[in-house]
Amino acid sequence: PLTSTGELVTRATAHRSAVASFNVITLEHVEAVIAGAEAVHAPVVLQVSENAVRFRYGRLLPLARAAVAAAERAAVPVALHLDHVRSDALLRQAPDAGFGSVMYDAARLPYAENLAATRAAAEWAHAHGLWIEAELGQIGGKDGEPPLDAHAPGARTDPDQARAFVADSGVDALAVAVGTTHAMTTRTAALDRALLKRLSTALDVPLVLHGSSGLPDEELAAAVTGGIAKVNVGTALNIAMTGAIREFLAAHPEAVDSRGYLTVGREAMVRTVAAIIEALGPAPAA
Ligand code: G3H
Ligand code: ZN
Repeated sequence: PLTSTGELVTRATAHRSAVASFNVITLEHVEAVIAGAEAVHAPVVLQVSENAVRFRYGRLLPLARAAVAAAERAAVPVALHLDHVRSDALLRQAPDAGFGSVMYDAARLPYAENLAATRAAAEWAHAHGLWIEAELGQIGGKDGEPPLDAHAPGARTDPDQARAFVADSGVDALAVAVGTTHAMTTRTAALDRALLKRLSTALDVPLVLHGSSGLPDEELAAAVTGGIAKVNVGTALNIAMTGAIREFLAAHPEAVDSRGYLTVGREAMVRTVAAIIEALGPAPAA
């Protein structure tokens, strides 16, 4: 059934677990995320990023309608989340498109501007029944951004600044920069466990991890133990899908029916989703 991210994150926090949140681009992604979550009996978040909307000719609704229909028919609770939103026009489409939550991303702006934009977004979101996540610090590797040194001063989230940011913006959850980078194709990132501990002590809102594809299983588990309540994964699905399709097409150079390669691509994503959810540790019963 369709549920909300706020509901899933609240339950995860109460159980000291985390909900996995996967970026979806195509209908095959939507189907695979739900099938993977069903296989391990865990709730899941489907998230559509502003970049994915751009890929869909700038239109949110067609994929959103499909995701809602798939969520409603799922055997596990499924929430819909709008991810890395910079455009107010897109933010305003969320409620009608069936999304119960958004991540508003003004992290590229200087602190005062990030705070002002995020506060305005949070006011609008709450007035329209949306749960809202924001980002403080620089989780590098986002589209169109220069490569970033995750260890550079100012890149990591500062606990004192984060506490003020949450209080002054009114957001429901905070994405923190604790060593991960977006779009990593190797699982070689390391979590700054000491900083994560300081952040989870300093903040009373759920913490969100971005760029989680770059973490090996044991670091994913450590993130949850360290207080992360929502784990965002995108690139791992693309790696799985593209790798499987590449292998299939190499083995079947005569293939023309798209269902052949989409099937193996989707199945590879199902396995990745299930494996990542399991790496996060036990979830509250669905
Ligand atoms: O918001 C989405 C996530 O941060 C995805 O990051 O593609 O590096 O797994 P990733
Ligand atoms: Zn992200």
